[in-house]
Order: sequence, then C-alpha cells, then structure tokens
Amino acid sequence: MEKVLPYIEANKERYLKELKEFLAIPSISSQKDHDGDMMKCAQWAADQMRTIGMESVQILPTGGHPLVYGNWLHSPGDPTVLFYGHYDVQPVDPLNLWTSPPFEATIRGENLYARGSADDKGQVFIHFKAIEAYMKQVGSLPVNIKLLIEGEEEVGSVNLDRFVKEHKEMLKADLVVISDSGMYAKGVPSICYSLRGLSYMEVEVTGPNRDLHSGSFGGSVHNPVQALCELIASLHDKNGKVTVNGFYDAVRPLTKAERVSFKKLPFSDKKYAKELGVKQLYGEKGFTTLERVWARPTLECNGIWGGYTGEGAKTVLPAKAFAKISMRLVPDQTSAEVAKLFEKHFRKIAPKTVDVKVRMLHGGEAAITPIDSPGVKAAVAALEKGFGKKPLYQREGGSIPIVVQFKNILGLDTVLLGFGLPDENAHSPDEFINLDNFFGGIRTSAYFYNELPSFWKGGHKRK
Ligand code: BES
Ligand code: ZN
Repeated sequence: MEKVLPYIEANKERYLKELKEFLAIPSISSQKDHDGDMMKCAQWAADQMRTIGMESVQILPTGGHPLVYGNWLHSPGDPTVLFYGHYDVQPVDPLNLWTSPPFEATIRGENLYARGSADDKGQVFIHFKAIEAYMKQVGSLPVNIKLLIEGEEEVGSVNLDRFVKEHKEMLKADLVVISDSGMYAKGVPSICYSLRGLSYMEVEVTGPNRDLHSGSFGGSVHNPVQALCELIASLHDKNGKVTVNGFYDAVRPLTKAERVSFKKLPFSDKKYAKELGVKQLYGEKGFTTLERVWARPTLECNGIWGGYTGEGAKTVLPAKAFAKISMRLVPDQTSAEVAKLFEKHFRKIAPKTVDVKVRMLHGGEAAITPIDSPGVKAAVAALEKGFGKKPLYQREGGSIPIVVQFKNILGLDTVLLGFGLPDENAHSPDEFINLDNFFGGIRTSAYFYNELPSFWKGGHKRK
C-alpha cells in the first residue's frame, strides 16, 4: 500500500478525465435507440480492463445487452473475488431539470454530476482504478479477481441468471463484491447487508372501443383514467398498508434486536422531510421511516398515463389508461408469488365497466448477506482505513437482483461496499458522485483487496 496510495494521489486528475469519458456514453439499457451506445460502452469497459492489466477480457453476448468480463488469476492460495457491477444507466428524463447535461460530467463544488456517476459506472470505475494502481506499482494483485460488468441491471438483469447458470466454472470464486449502493451519510461509511426485492407490473385499463368526444359521451361510460385512479388509490388503506390480498403473508417480521439497532442510527424525520421538500412523511403506520424503507414491503405507482397530455386542451374521453406499478419486497416474499397476488387482486377489484390487463415486466428477490464473513471483516478494515472511520451496518431499500442468484447458483456471499450517498439523485436529474467518496472509494477498494487474504481462512498476512 505504500506504493499504491501515492500512485492514486498522483493520478487523480487523469482518473477524473477517464471517468468523464466513461460517463459520456449514454448507455441507457431500457431504450432501443441506445443499443449502439450500449455496445460502445461495453467496448469502453473492455478496453479499460485491458489497460489496467486484466486478462481474458471478453465482451459476451446475452439475449440482450452484452456482458463484459476480465480476470487476473495469478495469486494462487489467495481468495478469488468476483466483482460485479453494471455499465447501464437509467433514462435521463426530465432533461430540463438537469443543471448540466447528463452525459457531460461536470464538477460543481465537491461533486461530479452525470447520469451513472454513482449508479453505477462511477463505482465500477473506482475498482478499475484501485486495480490499476496495484498492477502498475506492485506488478501483481494480492487476490485473484474476476470482473463481471453487465448492461441490464437497471432493467432487471433479465439475461444474467441464465448466463450465471451456464458459466459456473468461469465465475467460480470465493466471494462476490459489489459497489452499487450508498454510504449511510457523508463521512459515515457503512456496510450494507440487505436489499429489497422487486415485482414490476404494468397495467392497462380499457374502456370504450375508441377515444370519444367528452361532451357527447361524458356521463355515459366509465372513463378508464378515472377507473385506473380509483383502482390505484385503493391499493393502500388509511394506515398506509398495501391492500393487495395476501401481500404481507410471507413477510419475515423485523426482530427486536434489529429495530433497536436501527433506532441507534442518527436519523431525523424532520430533516429527511425537509431535504425531500415534503411537509410530512407518509408510510405504513407502526414503523419508523428506516424500517419502512429498508425492511418493509411497499407498493409504488412509478408512472401513469392516458388520454390527452399535449399542449392546450382537447376534450376527449380516452379509450385507455396505463400505469407502471412496482412492489419492493422483503424476505421471505418472492417476486413471482407477489406478482401473482397483485394480478389476482387487481382483476378482482376492477369494476365491470372496464377491462384490465396486468403483466409483469421483471422481478428480483430480496437479499440478506452475512455480516460476520471474512469478506465483510476485510471491508470493515478497508473502510476504516480509506475513510478514517469505522463503518456502521445498514440495510437499503433498492434492489440488485443478482445478489440472491449468486448465492443460489454459485453458493457465494456478497459484500456490498457502497460509495454513493443517500442524496446522490440516482435515477433522477442531477445524479452525482461526491469526489471525496470517489477517491476514498479507490483507496478503500485497494485496501480491501490488500486486506482480504489475511481475513480469509488459510490466507496469510500481507504487508
Ligand atoms: N444501485 C441500485 C440499487 C440500489 C439502490 C442499492 C439504492 C442500494 C440503494 C441499482 O442500480 C438499481 O437501481 N436497481 C434497480 C433494480 C431493478 C430495476 C430490478 C432498482 O432498485 O430499482
Ligand atoms: Zn445501480
């Protein structure tokens, strides 16, 4: 590390320049017209892997966007890390709310703003640079590494399960490391040990067989936009509980010990509400905000549309209305089961005046990872050295569907080593990565790889 740390310090400007290149590629996985950018971005990541000294670098086709793989396996007797991240990003709309263009990374104050800066290209790049510093200065790595960077995380990792099942040997490792989550607060590093799962649904409500004049027909048929709003409104009761039949049946209750540990974390509802610009918070009664976001299942309407939304007024009674509805899940709910419950419930409550169609777009399972593994211990030591503070343990409300599959298919536990921040604007305008977290993240990743062998059983202590 005496050689690695000064190299990181000396190359900060170049790191930022390269990161800006990575962030300039609009790798939006959900939009067809960016398919070319997805390939370009995969190529950029592959070139970067070669530059930092990775071997066997390949762009691997899937049914969707390609995966990028590279490895370095010359540290026999030391653990093998499977590092997973994603190069795809979420759409950027509404574009007019960005202070600077989403694909022109811009530094303002202590942050670098761009789509993907925190989620997840910036965090993937942190590991690239930690590896590079090691390879350039030491000529080898303290561990064996396999890098797997996918292009479909933001659309539910729909082709990754199959890939992992079909490439068990290629992905064989001792543990998984992912940097795709956040720290508890600025200056407060944390280890995340749980993610929520997801069932993502789309519903379509059809009324009359065509759009109608709202004067001639208003009063004679049920407006599908109105019907859909009524349906969505009924999905929560007055206590903020989700009304989908059976929704809570499989939910593993929070333990007393965990509720106590959440309560010990510094958190203010008032500050949180203020920061989000709401007068009051909302959610399931009987649970604290952190409990609701981290450890309780929820239902959100992500978008709703139908009828006329263009300029000015048009008097129309629309034929159709749509909504995208997702449910965040906790152990022991399963995404397929919850999707079924939702479909059954939605059909049951639909009025006879309209037809409804329900389809599942994608899903993923909730994950709980052990906090006493050698990987987590190494991460704790690395965070303490990288950020000068002992990390705390936290859960997160977001989802990384492959975590559970790495356990189920490869038998591997994951270390979630996040360098984002709660206010980083992931999935919204003005996404950023804090520069202290970026450089602290590079140092921490280097420390992590350096520390891991000594925490691994059978491993030996390194200087
Ligand atoms: N980086 C997030 C996951 C995340 C969010 C972890 C917040 C911790 C805190 C990831 O890229 C993401 O957004 N995943 C999607 C997955 C979904 C499309 C299956 C999500 O959570 O919406
Ligand atoms: Zn992400």
